Amino acid sequence: MSRMTLASPLRTSAAALAAPAYVEHRRLIEWVREIAALTEPDRIVWCDGSDAEFDRLCAEMVAAGTLIRLAADKRPRSFLARSDPSDVARMEERTFICSESPDDAGPTNHWVAPAAMRNTLEGLFARCMRGRTLYVVPFSMGPLGSPIAQIGVEVTDSPYVVVNMKLMTRMGRAVYDVLGSDGDFIPCIHSVGAPLTAGARDVAWPCNREHKYIVHFPEAREIWSFGSGYGGNALLGKKCLALRIASVMGRDEGWLAEHMLILGATSPVGEKTYIAAAFPSACGKTNLAMLIPPPGMAGWKVSTIGEDIAWLKPGPDGYLHAINPEAGYFGVAPGTSHESNPNAMATLRANVIFTNVALADDGDVWWEGMTRTPPAHLVDWQGNDWTPADGAAGRKAAHPNARFTVAATQCPSFDPAWDDPAGVPISAFVFGGRRADTMPLVTEARSWAEGVYKAATMGSETTAAAVGAVGQVRRDPFAMLPFCGYHVGDYFRHWLAMEKKVAHPPRMFTVNWFRKDAQGRFVWPGFGENMRVLRWIVERCRGQTRARDDALGLVPAYADLDWKGSAFDADAFAAVMAHDPQQWARELAAHDELFAKIGNRLPPELRAERERLAARLAA
Ligand code: GTP
Ligand code: SPV
Ligand code: MN
Repeated sequence: MSRMTLASPLRTSAAALAAPAYVEHRRLIEWVREIAALTEPDRIVWCDGSDAEFDRLCAEMVAAGTLIRLAADKRPRSFLARSDPSDVARMEERTFICSESPDDAGPTNHWVAPAAMRNTLEGLFARCMRGRTLYVVPFSMGPLGSPIAQIGVEVTDSPYVVVNMKLMTRMGRAVYDVLGSDGDFIPCIHSVGAPLTAGARDVAWPCNREHKYIVHFPEAREIWSFGSGYGGNALLGKKCLALRIASVMGRDEGWLAEHMLILGATSPVGEKTYIAAAFPSACGKTNLAMLIPPPGMAGWKVSTIGEDIAWLKPGPDGYLHAINPEAGYFGVAPGTSHESNPNAMATLRANVIFTNVALADDGDVWWEGMTRTPPAHLVDWQGNDWTPADGAAGRKAAHPNARFTVAATQCPSFDPAWDDPAGVPISAFVFGGRRADTMPLVTEARSWAEGVYKAATMGSETTAAAVGAVGQVRRDPFAMLPFCGYHVGDYFRHWLAMEKKVAHPPRMFTVNWFRKDAQGRFVWPGFGENMRVLRWIVERCRGQTRARDDALGLVPAYADLDWKGSAFDADAFAAVMAHDPQQWARELAAHDELFAKIGNRLPPELRAERERLAARLAA
């Protein structure tokens, strides 16, 4: 467990340390005691996950100015949080994979030797919770007690994290029943890194502007996060456990932890097909997972299993089975509207924590894209007055990475199989980046290896979901660039090997909803219209439709898609399916650059796929 030495003798009083009688796990209690000795909180609260606890913490945060209660007649039991402007997204530059060997972190991760990093963390965490409460947050990723679930315990000094974890995971007392007296759990240590000196007034969003560290020890299966209170940096069950640590577990145990939504598509005759789809952050997973088919496709239905993370394991029936380890959504608010995602809007009707959206005068929230015309006056995400004139001048009312936290069960398209410990059998994998050009609307891979190649070389324009430049194309293999907890070459090898682990490997597809014309306008209508592409994918899986051979893969002809109720014509379709030789010369060069960076751990199968693709493009 923790190899930290104690920074000082125990300062938190023995009474404040006492665990409730229902916690029987000696090692866990001892670990909490060690962390408390290091961080020196004033109090320790063992969270039970009850509604009463949630309400009490929210009321305390309202009193402290961390949360603003929204109008009860507009957003019942909902709150707004405004973060520090230095703490608005994942910090990829501050995220570390501290494996024993740098080769196991690979060229796409930041690596620091574990001993050196533990030394740094020890300095940062020493006394860092002074004046604050240490909350012990037990949670399960996946159905409680299921053989595929993993238990984590997060200790944190942020009550905002506690209430978000309650919505995002199965959190609370029942976890201790599963843990018993010696069950395994993944220790997750989090601090906002802002000790309070006696008598000092707290700020609304404590964090550490100077030092931020999001650290993973893959061998010890341990997570330490310092300095940020935001999203994936602080809700450690999500990216840190369910992707970075779980991807390592999947490598070792023969399964997959992926940045994928999971949806069920039901045809008018009631056949249900499950699809898992990987898109980089803020590239449309939530939207696709909750899709409502266009009026012309009445009879088709999409149900939601997950919208961000999938764990996939070979099932006894020879299919790869997927579960959503999460229990809630931490979704992008801007761009979400009754037009673009009616299911998300319905999900957000009540019981929501919003972060960094704008506050309207009627006590409701607003963000760019929610309505066509913004309200005449708002308070922006930083607490300043905002009018549409500010918007016209380019100042956003909501931060572009503003998010909502809400329980998955509130979604109208919620699929009850979400809680099935056996998971759902996956028929297709879909991979999609955000590309203004180069990539066609849809292709199918001719083989598993070709599909792995396409996913491995996926590029996407960067979004506001990470701190850094926005709109640059970067390689984002499997949409896992910031989330793969080990060497990306080994990860590709693991994916190649998965084909042989199941009798019925899913078919592989690529999509691109984001092609633009010369004027910079999206040419594909997207959103609900994506159902037309999904239908073709479903029918390919079931052998119900055809495809023709193209340099980039198997593709549909215009007539192969369902266009009922659509004005999208054959010319427009040809434009979104076209591939340009010059763009593809650049694209192949970018693949080569990625492969050069990966070096000798790149599986030779992928080099062979690259040569086949180049030859087909040249023919
Ligand atoms: P993370 O939670 O960061 O992993 O992101 P996500 O993949 O779930 O992203 P989300 O679905 O929230 O999409 C965010 C942005 O994509 C919003 O601005 C949406 O308006 C936009 N978007 C989603 N679907 C489409 C689409 O089909 N076409 C276009 N043009 N934009 C889309
Ligand atoms: C993403 O960036 O892919 C997210 C948001 O889902 S966060 O949880 O902050 O990583
Ligand atoms: Mn995500």
